[in-house]
Amino acid sequence: MENKKFYITTPIYYPSDKLHIGHSYCTVAADAMARYKRLRGFDVKFLTGTDEHGQKIERIATAQNTTPKAYVDNIVSGIKELWADLDISYDQFIRTTDDIHVDAVKKIFKALYDKGDIYKSEYEGWYCTPCETFYTEHQLVDGKCPDCGRDVEKLKEESYFFKLSKYQDRLIEHIESHPEFIQPPTRQKEMISNFLRPGLEDLCVSRTSFKWGIPVEFDPNHIVYVWVDALSNYITALGYGTEQDEQYKKYWPADVHLVGKEIVRFHTIIWPAMLMALDLPLPKQVFGHGWLVIDGGKMSKSKGNVVDPKVLVERYGLDAIRYFLLREVAFGQDGNFTNEALIQRINSDLANDLGNLVSRTVGMIEKYFGGKIIADHAATDFDEDLKSVALATLNKVEGYMDKMLFSDALNEIWTLVRRTNKYIDETQPWVLIKDEAKKSELAGALYNIAESIRIISIIIQPFMTKAPKAIWAQLNIADESIVAWDKAKEWGLLPADLEVKKGETLFPRIDIKKELAELEAAIKAAAAESVANKMKDEPKEEEPEVEHKETITIDDFDKIELRTGTVLHCEKVEGSKKLLKSQIKIGNEVRQILSGIAKYYTPEEMVGKNVVVVANLAPRKMMGFESHGMVLCASDDKGNLTVVSPEKAIDPGSEVC
Ligand code: ME8
Ligand code: MG
Repeated sequence: MENKKFYITTPIYYPSDKLHIGHSYCTVAADAMARYKRLRGFDVKFLTGTDEHGQKIERIATAQNTTPKAYVDNIVSGIKELWADLDISYDQFIRTTDDIHVDAVKKIFKALYDKGDIYKSEYEGWYCTPCETFYTEHQLVDGKCPDCGRDVEKLKEESYFFKLSKYQDRLIEHIESHPEFIQPPTRQKEMISNFLRPGLEDLCVSRTSFKWGIPVEFDPNHIVYVWVDALSNYITALGYGTEQDEQYKKYWPADVHLVGKEIVRFHTIIWPAMLMALDLPLPKQVFGHGWLVIDGGKMSKSKGNVVDPKVLVERYGLDAIRYFLLREVAFGQDGNFTNEALIQRINSDLANDLGNLVSRTVGMIEKYFGGKIIADHAATDFDEDLKSVALATLNKVEGYMDKMLFSDALNEIWTLVRRTNKYIDETQPWVLIKDEAKKSELAGALYNIAESIRIISIIIQPFMTKAPKAIWAQLNIADESIVAWDKAKEWGLLPADLEVKKGETLFPRIDIKKELAELEAAIKAAAAESVANKMKDEPKEEEPEVEHKETITIDDFDKIELRTGTVLHCEKVEGSKKLLKSQIKIGNEVRQILSGIAKYYTPEEMVGKNVVVVANLAPRKMMGFESHGMVLCASDDKGNLTVVSPEKAIDPGSEVC
């Protein structure tokens, strides 16, 4: 056992802003995995950190009249506080501004250059500053960043390039002969067919247009461009390229890099190609998890829909949040975050199933046996099934955890929790107590329930950091050897005459209606605060300029008749890519109105919508059809468009003024 090592990493996060629950998702998963492996006796190294260089940070710092380093220092201390609040048991926090990283990246760049895998040329391309990514013309979507939809700028400059194309065949070969390398398997197919088969282009790896980065030692006008800098962290943190490289020798290759789905490409193409060029072993696995989304969209500051993990932890406690993140969504897939789902999980799985099991049990032991667990007792008819479910749980959980199936692992543990609750219903201690002849059976039932709780308390340790100890305190377990990981496969370890002590409720039930209202207000307040901060922080040029029209009088405005309407029917206009033709009910009249919104809405989506119409616009013909009126829409300069809709239901034909 003792020479088994496990090296796990999270991505290094951009400290451009406070982190949200999406970032915590990845880190909590990595933490659960690290704890699980430690419990199984592995020598674990769990690395996380921050990716601090780049133009975006430089711009924010300049706008705030500070230095990039001072700016990131402040954010990084907030990130470390957050990880402390979430009980993240990382072994090392790497910052790409650490000397050990900076020095090693310079050496790595030089080594690649000396080998002939980095060469100088000229770069012309489209650059998205927020994403720090270059795109070729054909990768852009409607001229915008394919990832975030924002504006891109054209840049041309002298740059160094990494010969990514040279490694294409070796990469395909490696991926296909190591099916475990990219997980889940769908991501593997994506990489092969979307990126590797169509052919790799060499990668721009240096920049001259900004300064905040690691200089290329032999050509200091250039700084090392983002991915070579960022990806190297996984080995520089271990002392690679220095005299002190014992950790590198011990832990590399990584057992798993946990990353979000949008950066799987960098970790399974660029990173292994760099390692091949350096003649270093490749990580054993890259696991691409899904996103936590809100109403189907990614959380983002600009949408004002970020969820602050701190708010959630303060309201519900850490274990509930950690449980929810890992239970609610299958790890490879996207998952919708809703407050309802969170509270329902807390009430059903935690308060009802687990919390109640513990408090009922301790309560009955106190009531019936003065708090003593009786080790010498008789059997009941229901013991064998409970025991067999309990003793099989650990192996099943291990099977799931080894595949990073957190949700399945938790589901398995909850099968045991529910089985134990069912055992209480089967044995009916409150009936047994009435019959003196059944006293020993009653003692047996309570002993078995307590045993099952002991087993549960062991297996939840990777996921929950508070509840196991709280349970041990209530069962008065002082001897830690009976709650060692492998002791979840043994029955009957609770000692004779153990005296239980009732404690605080593990997971209080939540009044869902009241809570949802309060929670929404708390989340909005936190989001509003951070949007306000962001507006303070961000360079002004990112804010769209609002160009106002000439001022009008109220009489001018009064000439326009605006009315609400309901779309009864809608179809495409043949021969037009832009136009939809709608029949809209306005009062007792049905109008035909054409709108240039086919790129944004399907006809099906339009039907039933309540809209606002300019009702007294003179009829005109478009593509041979009469259009009588206009549907109001809002659009921004990022290519978004939405129809304007009354906030509450109101009769079609109501005047808008
Ligand atoms: O990409 N749900 O940093 P980053 C789930 N510095 N995961 C989410 C998420 C969400 N809503 N939002 C973000 C970077 N993430 C680079 C990495 S590694 C050598 C360099 C995840 O701060 C996202 O998928 O933008 C990514 O894995 C991680 O947070 C860091 O994102
Ligand atoms: Mg990112």
